[in-house]
Amino acid sequence: MKASTSASTATPAHNAPLPPTTSSNARSSRIAPHSHIKGLGLTSEGYANVDGAGFIGQTNAREACGVVVDLIKSRKFSGRALLLVGAPGTGKTALALAVSHELGTKVPFCPMVGSEVYSTEVKKTEVLAEAFRRAIGLRIKETKEIYEGEVTELTPTEAENPLSGYGKTVSHVVIGLKTVKGTKQLRLDPTIYEAILKEKIVVGDVVYIEQQTGAVKRVGRSDAYAASYDLESETYVPLPKGEVHKRKELVQDVTLGDLDSANARPQGGQDIMSVMGSLVKSGRTEVTDKLRREVNKVVKGYVDQGVAEVVPGVVFIDEVHMLDIECFTYLNALLESPMAPTVILATNRGNSLVRGTTDIVSPHGVPVDLLDRCMIVKTDAYTREQIGKVVQTRANVEGLKLSPEVLNKLAGEGESSSLRYALQLLTPASILAHLAGRAQIELEDINEMNELFLDAKTSAAMISENRSVDTEMAS
Ligand SMILES: Nc1ncnc2c1ncn2[C@@H]1O[C@H](COP(=O)(O)OP(=O)(O)O)[C@@H](O)[C@H]1O
Ligand SMILES: [Mg+2]
Repeated sequence: MKASTSASTATPAHNAPLPPTTSSNARSSRIAPHSHIKGLGLTSEGYANVDGAGFIGQTNAREACGVVVDLIKSRKFSGRALLLVGAPGTGKTALALAVSHELGTKVPFCPMVGSEVYSTEVKKTEVLAEAFRRAIGLRIKETKEIYEGEVTELTPTEAENPLSGYGKTVSHVVIGLKTVKGTKQLRLDPTIYEAILKEKIVVGDVVYIEQQTGAVKRVGRSDAYAASYDLESETYVPLPKGEVHKRKELVQDVTLGDLDSANARPQGGQDIMSVMGSLVKSGRTEVTDKLRREVNKVVKGYVDQGVAEVVPGVVFIDEVHMLDIECFTYLNALLESPMAPTVILATNRGNSLVRGTTDIVSPHGVPVDLLDRCMIVKTDAYTREQIGKVVQTRANVEGLKLSPEVLNKLAGEGESSSLRYALQLLTPASILAHLAGRAQIELEDINEMNELFLDAKTSAAMISENRSVDTEMAS
């Protein structure tokens, strides 16, 4: 089937399968609400700017995290963990993410929630072990033949669908690439067109296509298209130098967790994941400790040869009080292991029973032997003004316009319920504004929202009122 649709001109065929999307990608959606957080926003002396790197207020906690970052960088934090305690919506997750940003770009950040360990299929300790593996990155350098340039043309060619007789399919796509030295027109396989759509590539973007695998990567927008009103988040890159077709050293980031699962499910192909996926010859379908040790051994070989570099990342366990005593014991052991990532824990509990025990009450529901290893940082509640600033920051990131009354109202909502509630009103309110044909969110949208939805406190209050009504009626 492939043959009838693949490239047939002088340009090499690009019909290899796309590299598998690894499960690390799925986790990135959890980080999206924090996309405005770029770091801890500290001065070189370690003091917090009032508003810095997208972070507003919370200066004590940010400075404390800064100290932890210094300890990690000077390798004095091994065997220890950072524990963030504070009410919901006070920026614990945001702080954890900021710490990982401070450790460097492309440092893996693996967030999980304590209760994720309770699955019927996988052992509790296995879930923790996997999270730790996903938080250790491996940067691999390899030289590849690629086509690189600014996209000057992107034309899919349609043909009758040979299978159904109805509709059309893309038979190939013609893409024009331009560099400082010249231009080239490529005729590519439709699978690559899918990748192009997925990466949202349009004319004017700088991209590269790997010759062997057909993997497409968007580098950024050509700076010829830069305009002052464009989004800040866009990266502008110069027109590539040299020829369109060239050899280039590419850097690929994977995690040990990716390698474990790739080796547990070996697949054919020539992209890096399948090559790395056949490091260990086996017919295994499950990640075992033995497989992990074998992967470690091969990785160590690569590191010794200078082909790869280990990038320790951050594993973030939210709602850590949901772990039970068995997990806590295992966590102690994981912290001791030689290749451990930085561990950040978070909870909003005070004194509580350690799960899995009947009589051990401990601060934050964390056993004392683990607490002894922790540096504890507390997050404070926000003022109305700070909530207003965070709401405005998020609105800017999401491209929403707010009238001043709306900002004031949301800050008030945030103060009386929580920052998170105020932030969560933004998107649905923007839908209401859009339906009413307005570009700006007005007070009426927020009021309509309040009619449609309840915040947690009102909801709880209403239910307890109802209950008393019910019991009155029953008596
Ligand atoms: N100080 C802050 N500055 C900017 N944004 C913040 C700040 N604190 C929290 N946020 C944002 O508010 C939302 C809720 O915070 P989050 O970190 O999830 O709270 P927690 O984990 O403590 O429940 C997130 O979108 C977060 O990015
Ligand atoms: Mg959180």
